[in-house]
Amino acid sequence: MVSTQFSTPPVPTRAMEFDAWLDDLPKHFAADGDIVRSHVLTVLSSVFPDGEDYFVRSVEAVRDRIEDPKLREDVKGFIGQESMHGREHRALNERLAELGYPTGAIGTYVRKLTAFRERHQNEKANLAVTAALEHYTATLAETLLTDPEARAEIGHDGVRYLLMWHALEESEHKAVAFDVYKRVGGSERMRVAMMWVVHLNFVLETSIWTLISLAMDPAARRHPLRVLRGLWRLRRSPFMSRRAVRQLFEYHRRGFHPNDRDTTELIAVWRTRLFGSNGKLTDLLAS
Ligand SMILES: [Fe+2]
Ligand SMILES: [Fe+2]
Repeated sequence: MVSTQFSTPPVPTRAMEFDAWLDDLPKHFAADGDIVRSHVLTVLSSVFPDGEDYFVRSVEAVRDRIEDPKLREDVKGFIGQESMHGREHRALNERLAELGYPTGAIGTYVRKLTAFRERHQNEKANLAVTAALEHYTATLAETLLTDPEARAEIGHDGVRYLLMWHALEESEHKAVAFDVYKRVGGSERMRVAMMWVVHLNFVLETSIWTLISLAMDPAARRHPLRVLRGLWRLRRSPFMSRRAVRQLFEYHRRGFHPNDRDTTELIAVWRTRLFGSNGKLTDLLAS
């Protein structure tokens, strides 16, 4: 039996278009032109489109077996949201590639990794990886939605708008892949084991690609001290805070469910702040 603790609102699909806001994107778009943070954010954006395609395929593979009408509706919303995230991150990644970032190579790496997983893992294991990564995105999203310092780190307005919209929707659908995994009989043991695989993979791939990306940046090579200072400052980032790490590791608790953390209020606040009453993206600059 899958428990969602309380009734969650439906997962809506919103058609978005951020291209025009990215026209003036500078290479080091993070706050204060921070070189290291710009590269870390770029690496995260680069893994999203192909990673999210994999999430969608993992859920679609078992979609027909879900009978609960609420979960079926949520799956539809989940697929709609993730497809839209992929589209908008691809547009951002193309812009970042023009600026010299290796977003194409990172995308190719993710496509190969997910293809490998799909060749060697069964449906439940793919869903367990998806649910684990969804907990990562939900944790990053909650940090962004609750901490003004985290939002300020992003710097460029267009990138911040895109990530805030993405964060809201990650919070809205944070339990969907998890519930699908449970509904098809996924075990607690595999769920937690796959999270360890995901931790290892996430830490390695984010650090290695950030270092490669930095090594390819002439400005980073010209200013090694700025890079070292940026790396040192990373440890104080809200995304690496003790609170965020603790929240990430809640996933290892037996019987964990994403809705154990009630974010309905947070979602309601940001739906209004971002989309107001008419559903159109509103001005975020003041927030
Ligand atoms: Fe997403
Ligand atoms: Fe997601």
